[in-house]
Parts: sequence; structure tokens; C-alpha cells
Amino acid sequence: MVLADFLIATGAVLGFISLFKNVLTFARWLYTAFLRKPKDLRDYGSWAIVTGATDGIRKALVFELASKGLNLMLVGRNPSKLEATSRELWDRFGATTEVKTVVTDLVKLSGEEIAAAIAGAMEGIDVGLLVNNAGMAYLPKYFHEVDRELTESMLRVNVNAAVWATKGVIDGMLKRKRGAILNMGSGSAMYISSFPLLTLYASTKAFLTTFSKSISLEYEGQGIDIQCQAPFFIATKMTMMKRRYLFIPSAEIFSRASVRWIGYDRVCNPYWSHSVQAFMACTLDTITVWGLECYAKWVRDRERSRR
Ligand SMILES: NC(=O)c1ccc[n+]([C@@H]2O[C@H](COP(=O)([O-])OP(=O)(O)OC[C@H]3O[C@@H](n4cnc5c(N)ncnc54)[C@H](OP(=O)(O)O)[C@@H]3O)[C@@H](O)[C@H]2O)c1
Repeated sequence: MVLADFLIATGAVLGFISLFKNVLTFARWLYTAFLRKPKDLRDYGSWAIVTGATDGIRKALVFELASKGLNLMLVGRNPSKLEATSRELWDRFGATTEVKTVVTDLVKLSGEEIAAAIAGAMEGIDVGLLVNNAGMAYLPKYFHEVDRELTESMLRVNVNAAVWATKGVIDGMLKRKRGAILNMGSGSAMYISSFPLLTLYASTKAFLTTFSKSISLEYEGQGIDIQCQAPFFIATKMTMMKRRYLFIPSAEIFSRASVRWIGYDRVCNPYWSHSVQAFMACTLDTITVWGLECYAKWVRDRERSRR
């Protein structure tokens, strides 16, 4: 009887602790997703550099950053798209936002050249934020079907460019003892254990996650906040998806959430419904991986039958 009472009491205490922990986790999630005050990004410096700012998520993000009072250096490969983005920024914000552009094809430049281009363009301006956003993906296929040129380009744009752009800004940030770097990872690498048929893409994003987590610890005592955002699907050219209200935000909606998180957690999933997806994906990992593999095979076969 005594033993039974003891077991019941222990179970109740453990149940209470577990419930309390879950309530705390949920409360923290509510706070960070909806209530936490965003950082004033101007405290890092008055300029932001954004790679891949001519389309998709970061095109929306540059408007969001401009609305927070930052000047922008846009890095892209297409001069006419850069020009069009600058013009749109001028139409919306006028002379209150200064804009510079750097034409750089991240596939064609070596790492040293990317770092030099960024460091050169930064001379004389107070760069507080670097957003390593430029990225490439491909339609699902087996690794041997990803041709050599695409393999090289993926590694250069998704991995090389982020590492070397970081090299380009880090010395200046260290001197000024302030700065923030945002790397664009993916939920496919952070919350799902594997992503067959998108192996190379997910692996480049896994690199960025580990890179960000580790380097952020190296510099956190020196006023530099480094973060990897790991979202799920967003409606952009890359995903060829249309916005679905709950689970697939538009680039604009995602960017608003993205800016609110800059400077906080080392790895995060800024859009609230993506974090719900992350929770489900982690809890049901085996089923998620199986479902994604089936979906990826279906997309691959559909594309092949169209050719
Ligand atoms: N969309 C999603 O669901 C999703 C989810 C998770 C993570 N992400 C990540 O978020 C980032 C942005 O994705 P997105 O959906 O906005 O993609 P997107 O619409 O295809 O835009 C990608 C940007 O990268 C630029 N870029 C590509 N190759 C380049 C190169 N060689 N040199 C210079 N710039 C280059 C593109 O320039 P152009 O305008 O010249 O093409 C464009 O501005 C990527 O890193 C992606 O992996 C996206």
C-alpha cells in the first residue's frame, strides 16, 4: 500500500513537472512569436547588406528593413533587377533610404573575390547587418541526376557565398563591436532528419545551420549577433507555390516575421505556423521523411513525364 502511494505520488509530481515544462515552453513560444519587441536594427549600424535581394523573400525583406530606417546595399547578379528594386525603394521611401547596388554573380566569383567585393563596397559606410540570403534549389531528383554544373553552382551560392561574405564583414563588425548576420537556412535541414531527392539542397542548408550556431558563440561576447533562420515553404519563385493562408506565407508576411527575430535566437523559425510545422515534423520524423520522399518522387516523375 505504502509502495503504491509512493508510486502514485511520484507519478503525480513527474506529471506536474512535465506539464509545467510544456506550459512554460508554450508561453515562451507565444511570447517570442507574437509579443517580443523587435530589436532596433539601427543600433547595429545604419546600413544593411542583402545578397539575393532581387526576388522572393529578401526582395520583400529589403522593403521591411527600409521601413525600419536602414540604408541598403543590394547584392545581385542581374543589373536590371537591381535597378528595378532600387527604383521601387525610391518610389516608396524617397531620399530617406540610401541604396547602393553591387552586381555580383555569386557562381562566377571565387570566395576571395566575394569577400573583397563586399569589403570594398562597405568602405566608408556603417554596415550593421549582413543578410546572406542568395540561394538556389532544384526540382527533386536523385543525387546522380544533379548535373555537375548545378552541383558546383549550388555549393558556390548556398555555402561559399555566405562564408565569404561573412569574411568580408566580420573584421569591420569586430572593430566597431556591433553587428548582426542573418543566414538563410531551411526547415528541411533543421527540423527534418533527412530530405531524400533534395539531398544537396538540404545539406547546404545544414552547413549554414551549423556554421551559424558555432560562429555565433565565437562572437556573442563581442556585440555581434549571428542567426540562422530555418523556415518551411514560402510562396516564391523558388518553390513555385502560391500562398496558402495557414502554412505557406507570402514573402511579405514571412519577411515581417523574419525582421522581428533578427538578433535573437541562434537558430529560429520566425513565422508562427512554420514553428507549428517544425514541432509536428520533429515529433513525427519518420512519417515526415517518408511523406516528403513520396512527394519528391511524385514531383520528379511528373517533371520527367512532361519532358
Ligand atoms: N522559398 C522557400 O520556401 C524557402 C524556404 C526555406 C529557405 N529558403 C531560402 O531562402 C532564400 C531565398 O529563397 P527565395 O524563395 O526567396 O528564392 P528566390 O525567389 O529564387 O530568390 C533567390 C535570390 O537569390 C539570388 N541568386 C540566385 N543565384 C544567384 C547568384 N548566382 N548570384 C547572385 N544572386 C543569386 C536570386 O537572384 P535573381 O533575382 O537574379 O534570380 C534571388 O534574388 C534561399 O537561400 C532559400 O534557400 C526559401
